[in-house]
Amino acid sequence: MTRQQSEEGFPEGFLWGAAAASYQIEGAAYEDGKGPSVWDMFCKKPDAVWNGQTGDVACDHYHRYPEDVALMRDIGLRAYRLSISWPRVLPEGTGAVNERGLAFYDRLVDALLEAGVEPHATLFHWDFPLALYHKGGWLNRDSADWFAEYTSVVVRKLGDRVKDWMTLNEPQVFAGAGHYEGRHAPGDRLRFAEVLRVCHHVLLAHGKSVQAIRASSPGKCNVYYAPVAQVKYPATSSPEDLEAARAATWSVNARTTWTNTWWMDPVFFGRYPEDGLRLFAKELPEVRSGDMEIIAQPVDFCGVNVYWGVPVRAGANGAAEVVPHPVGHPITAFEWSVTPECLYWGPRFFYERYKRPIVITENGLSTRDWISLDGKVHDPQRIDFMARHLIELRRAIAEGAVVNGYFHWSIMDNFEWAHGYKHRFGLVFVDYPTGRRVLKDSAHWYREVIASNGATL
Ligand code: NOJ
Repeated sequence: MTRQQSEEGFPEGFLWGAAAASYQIEGAAYEDGKGPSVWDMFCKKPDAVWNGQTGDVACDHYHRYPEDVALMRDIGLRAYRLSISWPRVLPEGTGAVNERGLAFYDRLVDALLEAGVEPHATLFHWDFPLALYHKGGWLNRDSADWFAEYTSVVVRKLGDRVKDWMTLNEPQVFAGAGHYEGRHAPGDRLRFAEVLRVCHHVLLAHGKSVQAIRASSPGKCNVYYAPVAQVKYPATSSPEDLEAARAATWSVNARTTWTNTWWMDPVFFGRYPEDGLRLFAKELPEVRSGDMEIIAQPVDFCGVNVYWGVPVRAGANGAAEVVPHPVGHPITAFEWSVTPECLYWGPRFFYERYKRPIVITENGLSTRDWISLDGKVHDPQRIDFMARHLIELRRAIAEGAVVNGYFHWSIMDNFEWAHGYKHRFGLVFVDYPTGRRVLKDSAHWYREVIASNGATL
């Protein structure tokens, strides 16, 4: 589905959205038969999460979803990117289905459709079933089949109404931060060869999940996934810097999971990138015959989470050199550099290489918000950040990148993984002790942007 491009501005039917993820907002961690996930386990480890916080209650979205959907309708969202908790649906990860858990998503999807908000569902946003971790987790090659089984259960239930599916969210992060750096659940620090085995199984899981979605969906549906983009952009308008930025965006030059091509070339081209194969030669996972065909199941869109980019220039031998930001360059509360250029160069580069309509599956920032004396939540930095990024996205579209949608991260403040509730990413403020929601100024602003299809930008 390629949405029609208009001369300037956003295409007709552009998906103005916002996103969230099960563990970060749902709470009800031990209710209605849900099984534990690796995050339930990880949050209990001393010093694993800021101030010992957990997702046990989070935003209590599990109980408050009608109010949350009403807020989405009020903002005028066209689409909402939710995620489904694997252990809520299959407490043991495979086998017995927890109908009460599945019923929650059934109600949520109905409420969204009733509110005129398209559900885009992510099957895995990091809450891996603890029972399967005890069977080896992603290190076990069977994990791909486990994920396919779970996928079929969900799609059989919701596929009559959910038409847009994402398999995995940010594999770079749950593979890298979770299995190599130990900062995220399950908190492992594996050898790099084992991490690459995890990555291969995750890719196989993606491919088998795509097959399962297509086999179980009663009608036509769109399938994609949401890696996090590592965007390098040219520091100047010189052709050399542009070439250096493009090459750096597509290179694998360090022993890390934080690359684009290791995750995306297999999906779109059915092969691992040559530079990575050379660099990791001594640590490569077993790739069985047929694996790459499974991984390269056709997908409909190129989803990418984009938070920032890194300016580079061509060095002496043409290779990219990072250009430091000037002193005082803006940063978010997370201390991430503010680089709106990433929503120009990111979509351009990704569309050029993978030739699928782009969906910005996440983009956003954390700010230090609170309720002011006037009872409102003023977040001018979020408004400015969104405006700058959306203007760049519009420029990418005007110059030929096909972009179907933009999901702001996040619809509401939520549990920011190892940082607990320290960071607020929401359009909606959540007062955690009471559960009260307050639309931030940015939510009101976004409503106008959506209603005008971006003309107010
Ligand atoms: C990416 C992740 O998908 C999401 O879970 C996280 O909260 C945001 N980035 C912000 O860090």
